[in-house]
Amino acid sequence: AMAEETIKVGLILPMTGPSASTGRQVEAGARLYLDQHGDTVGGRKIELVVRDDTGTADVTKRVAQELVVRDKVDVLAGFGLTPLALAAAPIATQAKKPMVVMAAATSIITESSPFIVRTSFTLPQVTTGIAQWAAENGIKKAASLVTDYAPGIDAAKTFKEVFTKNGGEVVAELAVPLKNPDFAPFLQRAADARPDALFVFVPSGFGSVFMNQFKERGLAQAGIRLIATGDVTDDDLLNGMGDAAIGVVSSHHYSAAHPSPENQAFVQAFEAANGGMRPNFMAVGGYDGMHAIKVALEKTGGATDGKALVEAMKGMAWESPRGPVAIDPETRDIVQTVYLRRVERGADGKLWNVEFASMPAVKDPVKAAK
Ligand code: DHB
Repeated sequence: AMAEETIKVGLILPMTGPSASTGRQVEAGARLYLDQHGDTVGGRKIELVVRDDTGTADVTKRVAQELVVRDKVDVLAGFGLTPLALAAAPIATQAKKPMVVMAAATSIITESSPFIVRTSFTLPQVTTGIAQWAAENGIKKAASLVTDYAPGIDAAKTFKEVFTKNGGEVVAELAVPLKNPDFAPFLQRAADARPDALFVFVPSGFGSVFMNQFKERGLAQAGIRLIATGDVTDDDLLNGMGDAAIGVVSSHHYSAAHPSPENQAFVQAFEAANGGMRPNFMAVGGYDGMHAIKVALEKTGGATDGKALVEAMKGMAWESPRGPVAIDPETRDIVQTVYLRRVERGADGKLWNVEFASMPAVKDPVKAAK
């Protein structure tokens, strides 16, 4: 009888493989939320059932099926990469289970199932800001370099649209393989196009490898500025990137340096609970995803009907460590502030993404245009 009373959340994440940092951050964020806010709703305990999909879509699909059929989870959550989220979407639809996407960030994902609610971000949502900033700050010619899969394509497309509309010119568009990326030949082609700036997207966990190669190829010395989405100056890795990262301007929805009291408390608690690991945007996606799940359960009085839970999440608004957020009731995607940030060495000697401008209540621009 006790087992039946538990509310189960199946958390599917890459805990091993090249995106293991995403799994580590999202899980730690989700657990911190429950530690701080309590893991019971109406006397029932919320249990996290964590499964490693190794970053492989076939595994995500199989694990999602097992969690629904065998473990009888009430909610599916996690999803570290776009192909993994897309592989699980039909299972959420069939099983009528809420699917809370805490990490993956291609615009289209929320349209792949009416049971998806997203607490991460979309690449078009965070790319618009840096493209506008570049055009308004003396950058006339830019090259783009992105990882060659859906979120990278979203980023490159948005960058080109917005930068061009604001008077800029894209002189080279480069896409680097997701698996074992060697940035060197692409950086050479970017340098050959002689842009004022290079716009970059790589997924979380790949920023250091990119930054090392950017430094080695001498693009900065050739006068090419690095601009990016915050996935590149990822808080998980930033402090290890060294002086090459200083001055990089990016736009993103979360910085560990966000100066709100909510975020300062979040960062302190997260580091204390995780051996000093700095939270990144993935951690906040997990933290806010658990918020959406727990508050939805409170609204339904603990009822776990999938449709009722999704309805309860639509229009939900709260103060996240990243700033104010809401779930768009039309699209089930997150609406949030996007910040412009510059990498600086703080008084503590560490590197931080320091926010210097903000755009409130940004919706995913792709769906907003439909
Ligand atoms: C995706 C993964 C990431 O690690 C990231 O930073 C952005 C997008 C994705 O696969 O959707």
